[in-house]
Amino acid sequence: MSDETFYLTTPIYYVNATPHLGHAYTTILADTMARFQTLRRGPEQVYFLTGTDEHGDKIVQAAAQGGESPQAYADRISGIFQETWKRLGLAPNQFIRTTSETHKRAVQRFLQQIYDAGDIYFGEYGGHYCFGCERFYTEKELQDSKCPDHQTVPTFIKEQNYFFRMGKYQDWLIDHIRRHPDFIRPERFRNEVLSFLKEPLEDLCISRPSTRLTWGIPLPFDDRYVTYVWFDALINYISALDWPDGKAFRSFWPTAQHLIAKDILKPHAIYWPTMLKAAGLPPCRHLNVHGYWKIEEAKMSKSRGAVVRPLDLADKYGVDAFRYFVLREMTFGLDAAFSEDALVARLNADLANDLGNLYSRVLKLIQRYYGGVMTRVPDNGELADAVRGTVADVTAAMERFAFSEALAAIWNLISATNKYLVSNEPWKRDPEDARTKAVLLTAAETLRAIAMLLLPFLPQTAERMLLGLGVSKPITSIRFEDVFLSSPQMGLPEWRVQEVPSLFPRIQPTAPSLQSAGTGAKPSRAGKESATVPEAPLEQITIEEFRRVDLRVAEVIEAEAIRGSKKLVKLRVRLNDEERTVVAGLKEHYPPESWAGKRIILVANLKPTSLMGVTSQGMVLAAEDDTGRIVLLTSEAPISSGSKVR
Ligand code: MSP
Repeated sequence: MSDETFYLTTPIYYVNATPHLGHAYTTILADTMARFQTLRRGPEQVYFLTGTDEHGDKIVQAAAQGGESPQAYADRISGIFQETWKRLGLAPNQFIRTTSETHKRAVQRFLQQIYDAGDIYFGEYGGHYCFGCERFYTEKELQDSKCPDHQTVPTFIKEQNYFFRMGKYQDWLIDHIRRHPDFIRPERFRNEVLSFLKEPLEDLCISRPSTRLTWGIPLPFDDRYVTYVWFDALINYISALDWPDGKAFRSFWPTAQHLIAKDILKPHAIYWPTMLKAAGLPPCRHLNVHGYWKIEEAKMSKSRGAVVRPLDLADKYGVDAFRYFVLREMTFGLDAAFSEDALVARLNADLANDLGNLYSRVLKLIQRYYGGVMTRVPDNGELADAVRGTVADVTAAMERFAFSEALAAIWNLISATNKYLVSNEPWKRDPEDARTKAVLLTAAETLRAIAMLLLPFLPQTAERMLLGLGVSKPITSIRFEDVFLSSPQMGLPEWRVQEVPSLFPRIQPTAPSLQSAGTGAKPSRAGKESATVPEAPLEQITIEEFRRVDLRVAEVIEAEAIRGSKKLVKLRVRLNDEERTVVAGLKEHYPPESWAGKRIILVANLKPTSLMGVTSQGMVLAAEDDTGRIVLLTSEAPISSGSKVR
């Protein structure tokens, strides 16, 4: 466990739009990282900040459209962000708003300090101003004379304003980036910034005349001007910690890490470090930059294009399934395409199949064999190395913000546990056998380690798993070290598991209404009911259709193994006075010597088919539970062979 603090911020989101997938993604990453660091360091050492950016032209315009005051508008949209994060289970330590008095005071103090040091001056500037971006563009930055982000022609504005001497810090910044190779990561973004810094760095205009914009923070040294956007917004990262005198500032700023997407790389990699330098403060430790979610190849932009609503998806598939998908699907630093089909595929394969089946299989066997109570047997430690290796892999991946890799490592452990069960087949063993107990205990211990490792990634699911696995320790006090403990050290001399309903019901990927729902591509969205059908049959059939299946009671006369096949057994069966040959794939569950005399249920009108050179005239019915146990269906009381099953 590290004594060091961990401070992580997301961008503060503009209130001119309501939360979409992009905002949710960054905030989910930060929440996952904060939970992971809490597992390692304890809650006092970790601080996770998010919030809303509420000043500027765009907000005034958006408020005016709805006939609201900027403050009432900002209150309402900021409230929607806060409510959305709550419903997605995201738990920041603080939600900061740039219209709060403490933030405004900190911004004014920061400005005054830089002004007093001589790094802010008054001058004239003419440039191409994009109201969408709320910034000036140089000729070179424009594409076909248009703003590259909004594709609109900017307005040429010439006016007197205040400027920050950013150019003065160019050499220092280049040197800092060179000497701290992981200051901006992944590397591609570091290279992008260094290449931008090859050109001379211009000073930064930081004010607007109050005659043009009032919805900003007045400059402390000239109230005819306000500051806005970047000089206001970036300071949130320290105003939230009560800079300059706050205890939180002293303990958390030295380990600060920012998390952003590539769209706001320049303000974070260039403006912010130079602003801090001018104020005599160190820059953050790491600037972590992720890629963009795209929908059908279009960038999901701030002001145009398709929008994915995170709450629609979370309502439809569950908070954890949505969270899992975005964490697993995007490689940190690269763009990714969003598709609901891909989400459903991952949900079914990774969550319902791999994780869900493993969990219910183990718990059901412990229930069935031991009434849910496992007494301690010597731990054979067969999966202990795999657990240790996974913890190391997850830690290394999370150090680099490689969320997808961390999940892949946990899924390797899940498949190792599934393989372990398949090769030991506890469902076929005598429950009282010591080996059976050891295998199930090992599987349960490993599942507990898996659930603990999943706490940061799938908080609700991991908590349900731990509850089902009978872990008595309060979830919030679980630390990384607990992953390695075995049950007696967890205070459990006797281990009592509980059966819980399936973790993730399978979703039918074929339901046509799911294809577009929630992506904003089509206006209608599927009802919640149709989205989560728990293992329902694929389609309903009529009684007439059912009657087409000729089910009969048949008596087995004799059975023999089919040479060369592990599973197949050849049966001679009697239906009234007719004899038939039927092949069944049940040898492992019912050896040849166990068949004679059984009255089985046969699908009698199945088209004959040849299996390993033997023609089968029908199919034997058997039931299989999700632990892999198989039992034959037979008639409840003696009845003559050939009887129809209705
Ligand atoms: N208010 C500024 C940030 C100030 S920070 C001091 C701002 N706000 S924003 O509402 O436009 O949010 C931008 C951020 O939202 C991105 O950096 C990213 O975190 C997230 N995303 C918005 N769209 C996104 C995608 N399509 N994909 C991934 N994340 C994106 O800029």
